[in-house]
Amino acid sequence: MVKVYTIASGKGGTGKTTVSVNLGTMLAQLGKETFLMDADIGMANVGLLLGLQDAPVTLHEILAGKANINDAIYECPAGLKVIPAGISLQGFQQADPEKIRDVMGEIIKRCEFLLIDAPAGISKDGIVPLAVADEVILVVNPELSSIVDALKTRILTELVGGHVLGSIINRVDQDKPDIMIKKMEKVLGVKVIGYIPEDTNVRRAASARTPLVIKYPTSPASKAIRRIASGLIGVSYKDEEDKEQKEGFLERFTKAVFAKKKGN
Ligand SMILES: Nc1ncnc2c1ncn2[C@@H]1O[C@H](COP(=O)(O)OP(=O)(O)O)[C@@H](O)[C@H]1O
Ligand SMILES: [Mg+2]
Repeated sequence: MVKVYTIASGKGGTGKTTVSVNLGTMLAQLGKETFLMDADIGMANVGLLLGLQDAPVTLHEILAGKANINDAIYECPAGLKVIPAGISLQGFQQADPEKIRDVMGEIIKRCEFLLIDAPAGISKDGIVPLAVADEVILVVNPELSSIVDALKTRILTELVGGHVLGSIINRVDQDKPDIMIKKMEKVLGVKVIGYIPEDTNVRRAASARTPLVIKYPTSPASKAIRRIASGLIGVSYKDEEDKEQKEGFLERFTKAVFAKKKGN
């Protein structure tokens, strides 16, 4: 069955695009046929993070009725299929956000997961992605203004007939966020489906125009995203690297013990 997730926030700059690109890449890496559509048609960033800034055909042209959807699908690392939005203001003005429903209808015939990177705020182009998704995921930072705005988006989603699956707390700067998670669940009234630590590799990967989970797969934020993706597809998360390190340690420890015994 196809699942459509809209990645939304409230406040801008919380990490929607970072989450969309990397969650999408990770789902693709885990073997799921995944599409990512940049519905932030006013402030499009998905293309920038993936090196698609010069894409000749984008969602803008499709929403303006000037191009065919097949011409705006680009294959990215791990096999993630991406429909970027354009960056020109003129393209934005000509795009009809209502047409997102048609584009979505076409894409869901071809994939298992469709992620939609939504705009911040409560403009008209932001409402459609909230209404059309099976589930909305709110990306929140651990600060009051971000939480208050996310709450507004949750209420708006429900008003337009959508459903919020839960939130992802991004840019967490504490080792034991359990209490914060509980508070967030209480205030937002939805489950926290994962949290992503503050990680300087996020910016470095963006500068390299490569998804973080590809460029720095063992970085703390990558591992967090892998855990969230595993949760979405219902597989248990295994931190392979930690496991390998532990196994490596056990092996070394056992060898050392036996070597000592032999020496005795
Ligand atoms: N976990 C993180 N650690 C460090 N920087 C982050 C993290 N997540 C996002 N950022 C940075 O925050 C900024 C906004 O992220 P972005 O994904 O563009 O947000 P949005 O799409 O919500 O506007 C970017 O500069 C990005 O590199
Ligand atoms: Mg964005």
